[in-house]
Amino acid sequence: MVLKKFVALAAGLTLALSLAACGGSGAGSTDTDTGTDTTDGGTTAEGGLIGVAMPTQTSSRWIADGNAVKEGLEAAGYEVDLQFANDDIPTQQQQVDQMITKGAKALIIAAIDGTTLSGQLDAAKAAGIPVVAYDRLIRDSENVDFYVTFDNFKVGVQQATSLLVGLGVMNADGSEGSATGPFNVELFAGSLDDNNAFFFFNGAMSILQPKIDDGTLVIKSGQTTIEQVNILRWQQETAQKRMEDLLTQAYNDGSKVQGVLSPYDGLSRGILTALGNAGYGPTIADGMPIVTGQDAEIESVKLINDDVQFASIFKDTRKLAAQAIVVAQAYLMGAEPEANDTETYDNGVKVVPSYLLESDIVYKDTITSLLVDSGYWTADEVASGLAG
Ligand code: GAL
Repeated sequence: MVLKKFVALAAGLTLALSLAACGGSGAGSTDTDTGTDTTDGGTTAEGGLIGVAMPTQTSSRWIADGNAVKEGLEAAGYEVDLQFANDDIPTQQQQVDQMITKGAKALIIAAIDGTTLSGQLDAAKAAGIPVVAYDRLIRDSENVDFYVTFDNFKVGVQQATSLLVGLGVMNADGSEGSATGPFNVELFAGSLDDNNAFFFFNGAMSILQPKIDDGTLVIKSGQTTIEQVNILRWQQETAQKRMEDLLTQAYNDGSKVQGVLSPYDGLSRGILTALGNAGYGPTIADGMPIVTGQDAEIESVKLINDDVQFASIFKDTRKLAAQAIVVAQAYLMGAEPEANDTETYDNGVKVVPSYLLESDIVYKDTITSLLVDSGYWTADEVASGLAG
């Protein structure tokens, strides 16, 4: 991810922040408090350090998220301690501890394991530091102040929808398609220590279960529960290995798998590699199964453009970053951030007030309108599969 892109993103974020502050549409808008919140200048004067903890740099989405949050906060006059934890829980705990020690005024955290930060959050609470959970809910703690994310159940619904559209069972406009199956499909889910994995899977199964029950979809492996189909830490290699095992165990009789529910582009690439190695494809027209995804990572957008992966879900990390910043700024100005959901995200101790953003399905024919026209990826990046 090159600097150029994030300088442009920062400009967009500054605009988003001013719009949110002026227009009253964002989480941090305080319509009555017009004396302090109508310009970035008011917050710039406050300044201070904000800690931003991201899970890993092995996925381009978290790099994009981390950089977008950092650039946006810096543009608003804050100092930022941005850390990536290499998907290692003790590393993330240590990083958050250090942010608190360094005097961070707010913490924005995308947890690796949503249940392992209670000690850090207790310390944050004791120091009066507001904590914003970023995209992934932090569980089992009273001391999570706010959650910014997408409508994760709906993301799962969209993933299942894209699978059915690819198989021809449904049309992209939601109407019934002409294909009736039966189609051989396999299911994958994300990491069980990530609360989102359950929302994606449950959302997807709300669409797929009736199609399994009426025989349109057949899960030949028989593996249909999240306990059976999850992939620890969302690892591409683990997904590849599971797909290889499924092919050996359930498709050794000449039958073919025709669709795969994958909840994340990294997993999708592992699944596609396993399928390719087993002689499927290379393109959907040549018999590559319909494989779904999430995050519109550039490597996968290229695969969609090349007719290898069928779809992904676009969650605009620029908007998520801007929302996290609006929320953090609200706390720093002594205001209560605006939530648009106060029911869904129970973290085991309390329902965390949340701001949910909308996502979109990316098909080959919506790459341009969703990703290129919005400046998320350039046409050159889509063609090369490389950012920058
Ligand atoms: C989830 C996130 C997804 C995907 C996944 C793997 O928490 O919501 O968008 O990025 O992690 O990184």
